[in-house]
Amino acid sequence: MRATQTGDLWWKTAVVYCLDVQTFYDSNGDGIGDFAGLSERLDHLVELGVTVVWLMPFYPTADVDDGYDITDFYTVDPRLGTLGDFVEFMRSARSRGLRVIADLVVNHTSAKHPWFQSSRSSVDSQYRDWYVWRDEPGPEKPGDVVFPDRETSIWTKDRKAGQYYLHRFYRSQPDLNVANPAVRDEIARIIGFWMELGLSGFRVDAVPFLLETSGIEGGAGDLPQPHEYLRDLRAFLGRRSGDAILLGEVNLPFEQARTFFGDEDGDELTMLFDFPTMQAMFLGLAREDAGPIRSALLARPETPGDSQWAVFVRNHDELTLDKLSGAERQEVFTAFGPDEGMQVYGRGLRRRLPTMVGGDGRRVRLAYSLMMSLPGTPTLFYGEEIGMGENLDLPGRMAVRTPMQWQAGEMGGFSTAPNAGALCRPFPAKPYSPDEVNVVAQRHDPGTRCSRSCGNGFGVTANVPSWAGARCPCWTTTFRQCWPTAVTGAAERCCSATTSVPPPRRCGCRSPNSLPAPVASICSTDQPS
Ligand code: GLC
Ligand code: CA
Repeated sequence: MRATQTGDLWWKTAVVYCLDVQTFYDSNGDGIGDFAGLSERLDHLVELGVTVVWLMPFYPTADVDDGYDITDFYTVDPRLGTLGDFVEFMRSARSRGLRVIADLVVNHTSAKHPWFQSSRSSVDSQYRDWYVWRDEPGPEKPGDVVFPDRETSIWTKDRKAGQYYLHRFYRSQPDLNVANPAVRDEIARIIGFWMELGLSGFRVDAVPFLLETSGIEGGAGDLPQPHEYLRDLRAFLGRRSGDAILLGEVNLPFEQARTFFGDEDGDELTMLFDFPTMQAMFLGLAREDAGPIRSALLARPETPGDSQWAVFVRNHDELTLDKLSGAERQEVFTAFGPDEGMQVYGRGLRRRLPTMVGGDGRRVRLAYSLMMSLPGTPTLFYGEEIGMGENLDLPGRMAVRTPMQWQAGEMGGFSTAPNAGALCRPFPAKPYSPDEVNVVAQRHDPGTRCSRSCGNGFGVTANVPSWAGARCPCWTTTFRQCWPTAVTGAAERCCSATTSVPPPRRCGCRSPNSLPAPVASICSTDQPS
């Protein structure tokens, strides 16, 4: 990639940071993070080298699935602020050069959404066909239930409607019927609404489920080409804003996932999360062997033209290991989450990396150095930059969604609420509580990830200068990153294996296989000629 392209292909050199407004910073002491608070904390992100903020759902919600069950797509959850606060946040982000993308959750709504309430109330409702109704349960395959902790089927009978409705997730999340043109129009309207308020695109939730029409009676006829619909969505987005992106959640094997880029044309999702490589990375860490990572990178299909993979260590959900074999998954469980309470859905872990590796900072740095040097756009989950742990007392995936830890103390600098009981969620216990793990302390510790990049933020003066990192020039261009390239011997093993993977064709590298082995030299700032 030429340096002159880094501006218009901005997502290729981006560093994405995912956060939930609710758990980031509380500005008014009610215990719940809010947009006004987030606006006050943007400097932290800029100083880390983040270029894109991904907002988890911030819309009004029935809150059964932490905001992924929306009751109104066109405004802000009142607990988080107002639309006015949102616009001020967008303005503040833009003035710091930050782009913002938001979760687009349109596979389903909350059952409390007025559309569903109307739909179930009468066959004559104008919203009846906005959802998927059948007299008898529709088709269902093993594995279709995404949340086996609480559901046994993807079809539930609604007493009022007298029919079964489709829900790929919880029963309180009825699936929208995308075979209905009115639904597709509404989805476009939602996209258009938030684009007008300045977004640079969306993280698209549950894409394969959104396009799935097999349970819809007559659906196959109405929507014969799901990928055509995805192309339409992308084209619509492009008309509204030429450089906006769709970053899709498509947790499928590589060859199937690739079709969501639009195959060779690259006219569907701009980026896809690389779930297979993430899972291989954990298998590699468990085995202390780079082999699985190497195999994943070799198997990873090349992306069409302007598209790109997004790489990550951890996201906000369970750390899914569903693409590993049963035996491989068990290896990772044994190494990183042996207790049943650390596991979830039989396929994933509900821990963050530092606790999984017993607090070994070298292994944590290794994982992030590796992730930062992989081909793709690094995507971080808030708190990773300071090595936050989880709170296993919280149910399911909430364990990793605890409030951001800004400084020591009962409230962790997150809120001025009267006591910890007033916080939206409790912090992890020692040795991962805010007293041990927090932003301020790390800014003062020259050995930490944070201090290497942070300058002056919210009144704290760091004692080390900003640190400019770089990525392999064959994979993307240089950028400023938070993590040191100081690596252990294990890291060198890992990286020497990954470098034998030829970089993408378009990288302009003269001799891809001649890249030097250790991370420290892979991450050179020299541009290849
Ligand atoms: C996606 C989200 C997850 C959510 C689900 C249903 O998988 O990442 O958090 O529960 O979709 O919306
Ligand atoms: Ca608040």
